[in-house]
Amino acid sequence: MPHPDPPASDEAGPDAPDPAGLRQSYQTGRLEPDQLAATWVEQFARWFADATTPGTGVPEANATVFATASADGRPSARTVLLKGFDQRGFVIYTNYTSRKGREAAENPFGSLVFPWYALERQVVAIGTVERVSRAETERYFASRPRGSQLGAWVSHQSQIIESRDVLAARDAELAARWPTGTPVPTPPFWGGLRLVPDTVEFWQGRTNRLHDRLRYRRACAADRWIVERLSP
Ligand SMILES: Cc1cc2nc3c(=O)[nH]c(=O)nc-3n(C[C@H](O)[C@H](O)[C@H](O)COP(=O)(O)O)c2cc1C
Repeated sequence: MPHPDPPASDEAGPDAPDPAGLRQSYQTGRLEPDQLAATWVEQFARWFADATTPGTGVPEANATVFATASADGRPSARTVLLKGFDQRGFVIYTNYTSRKGREAAENPFGSLVFPWYALERQVVAIGTVERVSRAETERYFASRPRGSQLGAWVSHQSQIIESRDVLAARDAELAARWPTGTPVPTPPFWGGLRLVPDTVEFWQGRTNRLHDRLRYRRACAADRWIVERLSP
């Protein structure tokens, strides 16, 4: 695919702001152990409710950065949408043959970051990644708008394609295969991934970069969680 010539010099143009000069002080909140819910899932539910409250300024509160790594430990990350959470973990949906899908299959460790900057908060979960049951995937797929259902079939996610025309042609072909009113089946290569956390950290920005970081860590006993404060 043709691409523009590179700029003559590698210096940023005069209009580019200097990132080193961008500085914000975080002072809206604090997080103390006695404020924390008994479980990470209750605490996440509280913060998720805050992030989705109209007027708080968090865009797409369920957008989360999902990191995976290849079998030889090379990481990659991308934004996905959280579609469910409970005491078992966090659920997202994707194409199992995408880069993230392949990496999760070959190396079961992953991480999610919820970047709720408008609240001066982030949540970081680290753990193992597993596929959700087929029944759970099919239930969710059935709830999606038809256009998104077809989109899941159309996109061989993460593969190189010649142009958008490839997508348009495949979309038209599949729309004809399953005309409006005909249920679109769940693609076998598409489904849910659940990040089963070993740790879930709640981060609240504070002044002078002395932030609050409280982390739930799974103890050896399966259902026991330890709360620890981490240095910012
Ligand atoms: C706000 C936002 C939400 C997204 N949600 C999803 C999603 O839920 N599932 C998904 O597979 N990709 C989603 N994407 C696209 C991914 O970021 C990514 O481009 C795609 O999944 C391919 O990633 P991979 O090649 O690393 O596997 C989203 C992107 C953005 C910016």
